[in-house]
Amino acid sequence: MLRGFAACLAALLACSAQAVELTVNAGPYVPSPQSVVADMLKLAHVGPQDYVIDLGSGDGRIVLTAAKVFGARGFGVEIKEDLVRRANAAAQSQGLAKRVHFVNADLFLTDISQATVLTMYLLPHTVNLLRDKLFKELRPGTRVLSHDYPLDGWQHVEMVHMDLDDKLPISGTTTTLIFLYRVPEKVAGRWRATVPASVHAGDIELDLEQKYTLLSGAARIAGARVPIVDGRIVGRTLSFSLRSSGAVHAFEGEVIDGAAHGMVKTAGQSAAWRARRAPKSD
Ligand SMILES: C[S@@+](CC[C@H](N)C(=O)[O-])C[C@H]1O[C@@H](n2cnc3c(N)ncnc32)[C@H](O)[C@@H]1O
Repeated sequence: MLRGFAACLAALLACSAQAVELTVNAGPYVPSPQSVVADMLKLAHVGPQDYVIDLGSGDGRIVLTAAKVFGARGFGVEIKEDLVRRANAAAQSQGLAKRVHFVNADLFLTDISQATVLTMYLLPHTVNLLRDKLFKELRPGTRVLSHDYPLDGWQHVEMVHMDLDDKLPISGTTTTLIFLYRVPEKVAGRWRATVPASVHAGDIELDLEQKYTLLSGAARIAGARVPIVDGRIVGRTLSFSLRSSGAVHAFEGEVIDGAAHGMVKTAGQSAAWRARRAPKSD
């Protein structure tokens, strides 16, 4: 459906000249319609406490709107010098220059660790090239908004689908999607968990493997290896299931500073569990 947009943008790449050396051209300048900008920022509940970074910021509209309407601070990074100049001039003329600025640089080489909200409207393969960077550099809980294209292998928190006539000349379709993600906490490794008797009489070990928001691995329960199924982590909230002794144990919990706690449901009954990262020697 949205392939038309990708093809149309890709065809324009040859014409785009820029002064800064590029690692990857993430797409030509195609501005997000202003209504999509507002909807993106509302979806992430952007407010005065936020620091918004737009990757490939074009004329700066996302960061400018975040500052002007929602009171946020932030910056945009853009490869085209003329657009950076235009965005900084707009920040100046709108009295926002103390809170937002625009830099002429390659988005792939930009430090994004300051963001509490990260936005992008880039070609689909570029969005996916950024998955490792987002996971490594952004703090857990940071909201990531992508206009039209998903981060493969990341579980979204919300996806909004709209039909907009403004998108017809860009995408060849009115379909507009906004994906909202929360950067997951890093939980891979060994954990020691205290679980209710419905799961096991005594502590168990969890060996967690993580690929972005997907959790896998196994629990060690009384010497037996029990695979972790349906595992995911979105921001600090994790969930997974264990099937042992003929029952399904559905775990949910929050992870903060190397400790997890929550509830586990077995046959309709809920009880508390908690876990800590196991010492390195285990
Ligand atoms: C589709 S436009 C989006 C503009 C703006 N974010 C918006 O939503 O209105 C993508 C922008 O990314 C810029 N861009 C492409 N590759 C880039 C790179 N490697 N580093 C920085 N900017 C890049 C393009 O010049 C273009 O302005």
